[in-house]
Amino acid sequence: MAQGQLAGFGKVGVIGGGQMGAGIAQVMAVAGLKVTLLDVNAKQLETAKTGIRASVEKLAGKGVIDATGKANAETNLAFSSDQDALSGVDLIVEAIVEDEKIKTDLFARLDKIVQPNAIFASNTSSIPITRLAAATSRAPKFIGMHFMNPVPLMKLVEIIPGMATAPETTTRIVELSKLIGKETTTSQDYPGFVVNRILMPMINEAFNALLEGVATAEDIDKGMKLGTNQPMGPLQLADFIGLDTCLAIMKVLHQGLGDPRYRPSPLLAKYVEAGWVGKKAKRGVYSY
Ligand code: CAA
Ligand code: NAD
Repeated sequence: MAQGQLAGFGKVGVIGGGQMGAGIAQVMAVAGLKVTLLDVNAKQLETAKTGIRASVEKLAGKGVIDATGKANAETNLAFSSDQDALSGVDLIVEAIVEDEKIKTDLFARLDKIVQPNAIFASNTSSIPITRLAAATSRAPKFIGMHFMNPVPLMKLVEIIPGMATAPETTTRIVELSKLIGKETTTSQDYPGFVVNRILMPMINEAFNALLEGVATAEDIDKGMKLGTNQPMGPLQLADFIGLDTCLAIMKVLHQGLGDPRYRPSPLLAKYVEAGWVGKKAKRGVYSY
């Protein structure tokens, strides 16, 4: 295999420089791929650059990233706001806002710009891959590649082939995920896939318990953390994920599965209306 190639991929475009896109760009660059991270917001790209540097420093200090990985992070990453910079990549990993219309508009545009052999992967948390793929002319080369937050620390990538995804696309993306140090599971293409189909109703129920005054936020989180051995309680985890993202996922589950048990909690919706969307806004259920 050519130098700098992993599973046949050399150059990658990661779109969306928020918490997920920055993490995905980081792990791919550290593993040896040439990565261009793109965001519409130039300030967000600066935040991503600073965050990636701090994360790599920390992980190198702990011996999680070796000297080669640290050097790779410095040489393999480029930042851009120009979609044309992605025309020659082998792989797109999309990690923009969880909104089907915005994602399909983006993929339809990229389909015209990016060379036809490139694979398109979406990091969507819940939106059906088959529908996103249908916005392009390359559905056999379209797949869900669902990383977990925080990407540099979390082991899992959930792989979601759409209805029209070619088996070769799935094989290559599974191989790539392993080569960048992740483990994979495969899910069929239904709303929320596996992880969020099960995780998000728990988070949503924590907001309903808070709304009904069953307990304080602190006691809901302490109860779930110490009572069920989770690393953090559901309300704190929602703050880390982003309440806007949690609400968007609940809406996809509710609409896609048509069952009232997935109704988004009115309190979760109210936090989002207030702009208190979690740690990234310095305020969610808790203040940061
Ligand atoms: N890069 C490098 N270091 C990082 C980091 C990053 N991106 N983020 C945090 N860290 C560091 C912290 O600064 C801290 O460093 P120190 O040890 O120097 O203080 C360390 O990692 C965290 O240490 P902790 O002792 O607080 O925590 P931990 O190591 O035991 O676990 C964790 C950290 C793995 C993130 C744990 O808190 C956890 O598992 N949290 C839950 C995460 C989770 O459930 N994620 C999935 C969300 S759902 C999802 O992602 C899907 C979706 O679509 C919404
Ligand atoms: P975020 O809000 O932190 O970042 C989204 C970024 O996308 C922003 O920087 C925004 O400027 C950028 N953006 C929006 N529209 C764009 C466009 N058209 N072109 C380029 N950039 C654009 O969100 P996030 O938490 O990083 O989530 C991103 C995606 O990853 C979502 O689909 C989300 O569901 C998914 N996801 C999130 C988590 C999580 O825990 N937060 C976990 C797994 C998957």
